[in-house]
Amino acid sequence: MINYFSREPLPLEMHKICYVQKTQLQPVERRLAAAREAGFNSYRLTSNDVYLDMLTDSGVNAMTLCQLAAMMRADEAYAGSTTFSRLSAKLFDIFDKKYFLPAHQGRACEQILSRGLIKEGQLVPMNFEFGTTINQIKQVGGRHVSLLLDEGLVLQSDKPFKGNFDLKKLRHVLESERGNVAFVRIEAGTNLIGGQPISMDNIIEAAAICREYGVLTVLDASLYQDNLHFIRTREHPELSTRQITKLIAQAVDIIYFSARKLGFGKGGAILTNDESIFLKLEPLIARFEGFPTYGGISIRDMESLIDGLDDTMDDDTIAQGPNFIAYLAGELQKYGIPVVTPPGGLGCHIDARKFVPHVPLSEYPAGSLAAAIYISSGARGMERGGIDEPIENPNDPPFGAMELVRLAMPRRVYTISQINYLIDRLSWLYENRDLIGGLYFEEGAPRNFYDRLNSIGDWPERLVKKFRIDFGESL
Ligand SMILES: Cc1ncc(COP(=O)(O)O)c(C=O)c1O
Repeated sequence: MINYFSREPLPLEMHKICYVQKTQLQPVERRLAAAREAGFNSYRLTSNDVYLDMLTDSGVNAMTLCQLAAMMRADEAYAGSTTFSRLSAKLFDIFDKKYFLPAHQGRACEQILSRGLIKEGQLVPMNFEFGTTINQIKQVGGRHVSLLLDEGLVLQSDKPFKGNFDLKKLRHVLESERGNVAFVRIEAGTNLIGGQPISMDNIIEAAAICREYGVLTVLDASLYQDNLHFIRTREHPELSTRQITKLIAQAVDIIYFSARKLGFGKGGAILTNDESIFLKLEPLIARFEGFPTYGGISIRDMESLIDGLDDTMDDDTIAQGPNFIAYLAGELQKYGIPVVTPPGGLGCHIDARKFVPHVPLSEYPAGSLAAAIYISSGARGMERGGIDEPIENPNDPPFGAMELVRLAMPRRVYTISQINYLIDRLSWLYENRDLIGGLYFEEGAPRNFYDRLNSIGDWPERLVKKFRIDFGESL
């Protein structure tokens, strides 16, 4: 944040733009048509109809000149590429581990870890669950349990580390499931509860408890750069980002991450110091991903990751996502718009149950709000609620209780003027929230990313009519 003479502090972009991609803002009538064609499902929209692509931060973060230039020096050898050696050296330096296994993205790492380390019936406790992880654990007959502190599920709060483990619950589970725990997974930061971080002290204490019980710890560092920023600014300002990274690395047995998120690139990585784990997992990389010196990642992407990982250790660089998210969330709150607080990493999360309290859970408030946001602004967010995760019992946390629209903040992609545009359109939408109605499924099961829904009544058309009255000819 930078203080201003004539206005409130604003985040300042700490980069200049060398390459640009043209984007277009379609007229509101086209946005309505596109929403209908997409079955009110933002995954089905195409880039031509999207002005601000805030669906995810995965694989869409802007790259630096150095990363692009590095791609040209990639050593395209099938085996023994020098790019692999360079990337290994960078990873060992940052994360203090000596074995590296590449995989094509985060879920591929999860598949390898699950196949290699989980036996049928074994349990994987974690601070919080993520969809790709749970799928892989279930594939091999494993079980999972989330051991988040209760406050992690409170949407509006002032707790700085809502991703923390409940350490009492962790100890209890390790005791009662003694001998039956495959490993404990630590997600830093957490995705599904609003990008909320876990504290360094909590990670280190959780790892110490696991060691007492002889249980391995696995750190999912996919959303780590935001989490590192929060540890440095909210918990340990006396430590540098590199020091924090090393201290945590020394506490855990295995680290993996999606490089679509961490490192401004593409790919995935598993790191450990334990030779026996490395030897167990390496054949699985060869079987499912590719030869273990590229593991399904393009060599050019591996080369670009070397520079990208250095950027994840740069405080200005990793502050930008959280600062933009905090700015967006703070401005929305000024209009009374309910957002998840404190603002976390990954994106700004809007509480749809409070935004559209008149839309019942059975009519998908978060899906309806995501569609209304797209129609009003051209920004596509992601529904995180009953469509993504069908509600069995609306009173059962986490999913039944949470109906969120996530506006992800791809790193270094959008400018403050674009965020200000979004804030304006969201404030208009909030004024007109009574116009927003519900959705219903056009097609029954199976539910997945490609679901088609429809509006209950013509509320989208009425929203567009009001938009034209208020904004005139403006797009
Ligand atoms: C915390 C976390 N772990 C794992 C993954 C899976 O990574 P990928 O999408 O590269 O498979 C994601 C992706 O969103 C994530 O957020």
